[in-house]
Amino acid sequence: MSRVEEVRLRLVYDSRGKETVEATVKTDRGVLGIVSAPSGASTGAHEVQAFPPGGVAEALRVGTSILRPKLVDRDVEDQAGFDRTLHEVDGTPTFSRIGGNTATALSVALAMARANEQGIDLARSLGAPERPTRWPAVVGNTMNGGRHAIGGPDFQEFIAFAPDATPAEEVRAALAVHQAIGEEIHRRLPTHALGRGDEGGWVAPIGNVVALEILDAACARVRDATHRKVFPGLDLAASEFFRDGAYRYQDRTLDLDGQIAFVAELVDAHGIRYLEDPLDEEEFDGFARLTAAVGSKCLVVGDDLYTTRRDRLATGIAKRSSNAILIKVNQVGTLTDTLATVALARASGLETVVSHRSGDVPEGWLADLAVACGSAGLKCGLLGGERVAKLNELLRLGAATEAPR
Ligand code: PGA
Ligand code: ZN
Repeated sequence: MSRVEEVRLRLVYDSRGKETVEATVKTDRGVLGIVSAPSGASTGAHEVQAFPPGGVAEALRVGTSILRPKLVDRDVEDQAGFDRTLHEVDGTPTFSRIGGNTATALSVALAMARANEQGIDLARSLGAPERPTRWPAVVGNTMNGGRHAIGGPDFQEFIAFAPDATPAEEVRAALAVHQAIGEEIHRRLPTHALGRGDEGGWVAPIGNVVALEILDAACARVRDATHRKVFPGLDLAASEFFRDGAYRYQDRTLDLDGQIAFVAELVDAHGIRYLEDPLDEEEFDGFARLTAAVGSKCLVVGDDLYTTRRDRLATGIAKRSSNAILIKVNQVGTLTDTLATVALARASGLETVVSHRSGDVPEGWLADLAVACGSAGLKCGLLGGERVAKLNELLRLGAATEAPR
């Protein structure tokens, strides 16, 4: 049994150039786990707080003076005890004293140190089988809108959903869709300077429905050319444009019934297979109506609805609100809390999709978590070093299971 010999925290930057926390956990065998935490922009109301009121500087101060002494000398195998200590030292329901990002970085760094001591991948160390029978689909952002792009559509993310047989085929298909969309936008707007949003998707001054048509056509083109499975998906992040009881788009305002009908129509018209946050984050009942209408055709995924919280998932299960849940470690702050939510989802027949944040870090461990959770998807974007790191880790895990040639 090895013990935690040292814990260090320091300031690093995420993909938006914003400050975040990196944690190093060193075991008494001299093995390291080094992990930093990502940050969201369209954060759910029920997430823990990423940082204490004084920001990263305060997180580092509190972490080093109060937290560190309680973590040193702990059993490296005891993830639950380590994570419990993070909660106890913090003492608030929202990690507002130490910061959810401090907790996330430390919690995952312990798991990483343990995997490194064992000499196996984090995925295996967290319980993935040696040869997984299914791989998470690549859930890749191809066009950005909402809070992740200035001047784009209201819907936040236009997604290439690639549930193929191997990671290599999925990544290739999703990247081909991203590229085809860039070409199509350039064809339609030849004098327009093309940019990309926070998650590496294209940004263009086009409406929601036109963007979806372009995505649908690009997926069909790639399917025809490669015979790979890749389908349109959306993350509406609808809470971001829900105000005073209505869904307020640039070109229309819809009440709940109108929004459900609009979204259900889009699912049918464009063969959408992945549908995230189509309604406001408190709309458990509306989610249930939409899931009843389209849930047999696509994954209906709750992100802001659940914020990875077990108690909110239990409500969604009772109401049949969705058939899938998005999983983000720093929405709840520890690996133990995250895996408890995943376990409840699996026990109740819901799929899980493990997800990045719009401000992410150039590390690949999210792919290990998705494989360990037997997830239906790894939502990690497609372009930008912080997204590619996760795709490449998924490729590495896939290649490691192939028979040697
Ligand atoms: P966020 O958005 O990381 O900015 O919260 C991602 C999402 O809504 O899925
Ligand atoms: Zn989302």
